[in-house]
Amino acid sequence: MEMKTNNDTGLLKFQNVSKTFVDNKFRKIQALANITFALNQSEFIVIIGPSGCGKSTILRLAAGLDKTSFGKVLYRGKQIKEPDRRRGLVFQSYSVFPWLTVRENIEFGLDKTDSRLNQEKVSNWLFFTGLANFADAYPKALSGGMRQRVALARTMIVEPELLLLDEPFGALDERTRESMQALLLKAVANSGCSVLLVTHDIREALILADRVFLMGPHPGKILDTFVPPSEKPRTRDNLSNPEFKSLYKEILNRFPVQLLED
Ligand SMILES: Nc1ncnc2c1ncn2[C@@H]1O[C@H](COP(=O)(O)OP(=O)(O)OP(=O)(O)O)[C@@H](O)[C@H]1O
Ligand SMILES: [Mg+2]
Repeated sequence: MEMKTNNDTGLLKFQNVSKTFVDNKFRKIQALANITFALNQSEFIVIIGPSGCGKSTILRLAAGLDKTSFGKVLYRGKQIKEPDRRRGLVFQSYSVFPWLTVRENIEFGLDKTDSRLNQEKVSNWLFFTGLANFADAYPKALSGGMRQRVALARTMIVEPELLLLDEPFGALDERTRESMQALLLKAVANSGCSVLLVTHDIREALILADRVFLMGPHPGKILDTFVPPSEKPRTRDNLSNPEFKSLYKEILNRFPVQLLED
């Protein structure tokens, strides 16, 4: 049998990455310090941590939207220089185009040349996300959960190898959030893509992740790694299991206390 070598290759690798910003008063802000990790093929990593600890900065570096101040970010062994279709990003705020309909949003990233196949893909995603009846609606007529489904479909339809999600369900109510988590797990399982997702929510991390990275601020760093028990898909029901409860408490105890800042 062939040996799995994923562990030493890693799809996405951060090697000793630091990032410093200069703010509008010319003060240096060290957003990240010495971030090192590898995300393996088909792995689902969730990053949690308080506001300002550098979570979005990690995703922007992984997407190729920003450059490191020190250290390297590698994708399939090559340094990331710019955004790439293989890495799909869903932003912290709703990333749908308000001037396009649901259907037009979903087909946006596709190569327009093969239209029959494309229309089939679009129909599949409209159906999968439960948006078939809203294909011709504009985002302003949709609820927050529906908009996030459009954003997910639009990103997934181009079949990215790595999905980068920045608090994708942060603005949603508890119920909608749960159904979006289930939908995401299903979409990811179907496609086999790898995921790096950022959230504030420890429960969300425990439902979605293969590994959870807890970050702390000033400067942003990875404090700890946790591995949730049991196979996926998991739901809210798993959280009442004693193993989950104790892991939840452990993470909560380690979660950096947010102090008020100027
Ligand atoms: N373009 C920028 N210019 C200056 N400072 C920045 C810039 N982007 C981020 N920062 C700073 O870097 C730090 C990390 O920011 P980042 O957005 O990555 O945090 P975060 O963990 O995503 O926070 P939140 O949970 O609130 O989204 C913060 O102190 C932020 O103010
Ligand atoms: Mg952020």
